[in-house]
Amino acid sequence: MQLNEHGAGRADGGAPLPQNLTRATLSHDLQNHLQVVASALHIVEQRMFSTDPSVRAAISGAAGSLVRIATLARHLSEERRTAPPPRTISIAMSLSAIADQIALAVGPSVRVDIRGDDLSAEVRCNALELENVILNLAVNARDAMPRGGRLTIETYRELQCASGRNALPRSWAALRVSDTGGGMSPEIASRVFTPYFTTKSRQGAGLGLPSVRDFALRAGGSIDLQSKVGVGTTILLRLPVAERN
Ligand SMILES: Nc1ncnc2c1ncn2[C@@H]1O[C@H](COP(=O)(O)OP(=O)(O)OP(=O)(O)O)[C@@H](O)[C@H]1O
Ligand SMILES: [Mg+2]
Repeated sequence: MQLNEHGAGRADGGAPLPQNLTRATLSHDLQNHLQVVASALHIVEQRMFSTDPSVRAAISGAAGSLVRIATLARHLSEERRTAPPPRTISIAMSLSAIADQIALAVGPSVRVDIRGDDLSAEVRCNALELENVILNLAVNARDAMPRGGRLTIETYRELQCASGRNALPRSWAALRVSDTGGGMSPEIASRVFTPYFTTKSRQGAGLGLPSVRDFALRAGGSIDLQSKVGVGTTILLRLPVAERN
């Protein structure tokens, strides 16, 4: 099953989520970070006097999430959400900034493999939004692997040949998130970008993937999904590489 949602080449970057949904999405991202903090504090509580490096990672993950919660809460308290200003940032650096939180969110039964050594894959977006996208995808992968598995997050540059006689090839920064979880049927895969669609009866809001898609389209990029029941799922975001002035 393959799906593709393109915002590339469009001046408006795709239709934005309605105002009430962007608020709900913020609240949803806050909840992801709160889960991280709760999990970190649980580890600290269990190993109070340990010198284990995982305790230090847990504490720094919790502290990092608290800073992000404060920023998200500030946006949420604004009457109207003002779009955070985009900056030129490296996806690889965002990945390393959020690595502790990813490990805490997925737990010890999921092996996390982060491959993001290409510092030249720079994009224009808001760093906190990009981190939330990565965390959203990691949490989905965790939910798909209740008995553990492998989460692979990669970033790399991709050159895509454009069609047309004088069209120049275009450079994309790719962010690919793969898991070895239960996968999705074609029927489910065709609905996952619809707001509020969820198969997680009580704890799912159905806002994770719609907000990831919204982020990709606003950044002028695209999102692809590949999934196979019993094998796993891969989500691929392509974002335009930031021009160096
Ligand atoms: N990696 C994955 N593997 C299998 N199914 C997935 C994966 N990611 C998403 N899904 C499916 O897509 C649905 C929608 O995902 P989405 O992230 O939008 O919402 P959610 O995870 O259900 O709730 P939340 O709002 O908390 O994110 C999920 O309920 C699940 O059925
Ligand atoms: Mg989700």
